Amino acid sequence: MTDFPVKVTPASAPLGAIKSFLAVQENVLNVLPEMAFRQPMVSGRFAHMGWHMVMEPTALRRVMRDNLANYPKSSVTTNILRPAIGDSILLAEGADWRKQHRAAVPVFTPRNIGRLAPYMVRAAQGAVKRIGTTNTRPVNLHDEMVRATFDVISDVTFSGEQGLDRAVVHKSIEDYMAGAARMSFFDLLALPNWVPRPHRIFGSHVVKHMHHLADQAIDDRQNAEPNTIPDLMDLLIDTSDPETGEKLTDLEVRNNLLTFIVAGHETTALALAWACYLVAHDTRVQDKGRAEIAEVTHGAQPDEEHVADLKYVRMIIDEALRLYPPAAFVSRTAQADDVLAGRTINKGDTVMLPFYALHRNHVLWDRPDDFIPERFEDRDQIERFSYMPFGDGPRICIGMRFALQEAIIILASLLQAYEFTPVQGKDPKPVMVLTLRPEGGVWLNARALS
Ligand code: HEM
Repeated sequence: MTDFPVKVTPASAPLGAIKSFLAVQENVLNVLPEMAFRQPMVSGRFAHMGWHMVMEPTALRRVMRDNLANYPKSSVTTNILRPAIGDSILLAEGADWRKQHRAAVPVFTPRNIGRLAPYMVRAAQGAVKRIGTTNTRPVNLHDEMVRATFDVISDVTFSGEQGLDRAVVHKSIEDYMAGAARMSFFDLLALPNWVPRPHRIFGSHVVKHMHHLADQAIDDRQNAEPNTIPDLMDLLIDTSDPETGEKLTDLEVRNNLLTFIVAGHETTALALAWACYLVAHDTRVQDKGRAEIAEVTHGAQPDEEHVADLKYVRMIIDEALRLYPPAAFVSRTAQADDVLAGRTINKGDTVMLPFYALHRNHVLWDRPDDFIPERFEDRDQIERFSYMPFGDGPRICIGMRFALQEAIIILASLLQAYEFTPVQGKDPKPVMVLTLRPEGGVWLNARALS
């Protein structure tokens, strides 16, 4: 029987260039050496380039907040995503990022996010219903969660577009990601774009089609009657930079809308899929979560009004995000010499922020590989830059509140309706390509509770 919770077996020492190259094709997390789980920093060189893995909270604070301008995002993610989502808020830097960020912040106010809860409740109930139709057959919760979170994100971005074929949009995005998102060791080290990438196959026709669909939807919306409750598209079209009054251009609206779809749905699906895997293996946690849900909702459908009181459900999600952070590894390029945790960083060095190793670092966490939601009972006890599933500093995930509200509503709805148990011999394997996925799926038995 596989160990619970499943984890990546780290290499005993940093791999050499060729071995790293091969290992990372299969799973980016294969480059993490055992030392990354026990030490504050691991450094090395690849050809002429220096690289550093940072797992030390004060150094991370410097990279992500105090000396942010020195550490723009490296070309790892930008190379993969730019053809699809352009220089949206996720990829832009400097003044361009600041302008888009100022305009996007009002879109994600608690009031706006709260008003989108009905879409989350509807998607949760859709998932509950679909799982019910499987009778006693095992169900792949990963697929179910991707479907549910895609329902949410397409409802809150293109809610009025009756003519828009969601299946087509979803397929375009999945095809694009499947083709383009194979990260290579070259990307990881941020080698320049002209160095050919073995796995880089940009599906340009797919991207063009996706852009066309989005432009059409935005155009239709600009000419339509306003929605009574503004969705993310309405909010993006209407918002403006509070400092200059400047609105987002049509291209910026399109890029950011596609960014929300790409950055928002799979990540949240992964948080939910891993949370389901974890609770299925731990009856105590599952029962405790269910008892809280009953006490808070009194049998009603979990909704926005319950979110703040579903504290234990939130802890399960926090712990799932610690053990399996969907964005498990991000990377920056130093623009000038600097010092991190007493170590010299040279201009041009790649600075990797492996959240997967940070969240399991023995210096920072007690029993780091165990599933213990209670560790989030007292959040003040958690050192800020030791836990970063959503990043931190000015570039922190703008959709965090949205994602947490959605994850709480969906997980609570599932636990209210079903008791989950694992399917023997079907444990997922944590594999990171662009995000940390449960390879093989999260296959669970779901027993209806009413
Ligand atoms: C559990 C779900 C999610 C996780 C784990 C997650 C994780 C992250 C992380 C780690 C970053 C920072 C990346 C970096 O510093 O390099 C980020 C940024 C971002 N995320 Fe999320 N995210 C999630 C959900 C969402 C949702 C639902 C949306 C939108 C609806 C979203 C939109 C964004 C955007 C636009 C940025 C860029 C922010 C900026 O650079 O100013 N994310 N996310």
